Amino acid sequence: MLNIALPKGRLGEKVYDYFEQAGFDCAEISEVNRKLTFENEEKGIRFFWVKPSDVPIYVERGAADIGVAGKDILLEAEPDVYELLDLKMGVCRMAVAAKKNFRDNTATTLKVATKFSNIAAKYYAQKGRDIDIIHLNGSIELAPILGLSDVIVDIVETGKTLLENGLEPIEDIVPISARLIANKAAFGFKEDKINEIKNKLEEIVESKK
Ligand code: PRP
Repeated sequence: MLNIALPKGRLGEKVYDYFEQAGFDCAEISEVNRKLTFENEEKGIRFFWVKPSDVPIYVERGAADIGVAGKDILLEAEPDVYELLDLKMGVCRMAVAAKKNFRDNTATTLKVATKFSNIAAKYYAQKGRDIDIIHLNGSIELAPILGLSDVIVDIVETGKTLLENGLEPIEDIVPISARLIANKAAFGFKEDKINEIKNKLEEIVESKK
């Protein structure tokens, strides 16, 4: 059995559609229930739904042979896994945003609120800017509005959330999309199967261009 960790939620459903189109379907998965694992014995695959940020943990530790995770999560957690394919879905960007008319006063430490502390720390270290990271778990946009931070580092997709909260993107950090990842050891002993899946998914990605 090849174990496949999929991110629970909207992205995961799109990802599963790609697997289905690639011939790695699992009829059980569309049944409405609370089950978290689904098998297709004939194809030798088992899917399971996990919290998106947990996908790299399952894959790095080998509980899943392959999985799909956003580049944001991979850059933040830096798991020791192989990144096999850009699925070109869930496309967005990591950006710095602030209140309209924000001016950075470089004489002071910049207060940065984010869910992506590692990405933010690396970004500002490379710029040589002194920062104070305020790690939040959600509703990041609130931080500059309430004066908790000067800026935020967060995902921007359409820009609607920023706009509706009186914020604007001021710097782009990195483009983001969903990636197929593999456990390093599994890629050794299940290479043929993993490559078969990767190649079929790649054909689908190319066909969507
Ligand atoms: C992300 C991000 C923003 C929003 C940006 O949140 O944190 O809030 O999407 O999208 P937009 O530019 O299209 O408005 P997500 O929906 O991933 O949920 P989260 O709050 O759990 O991070």
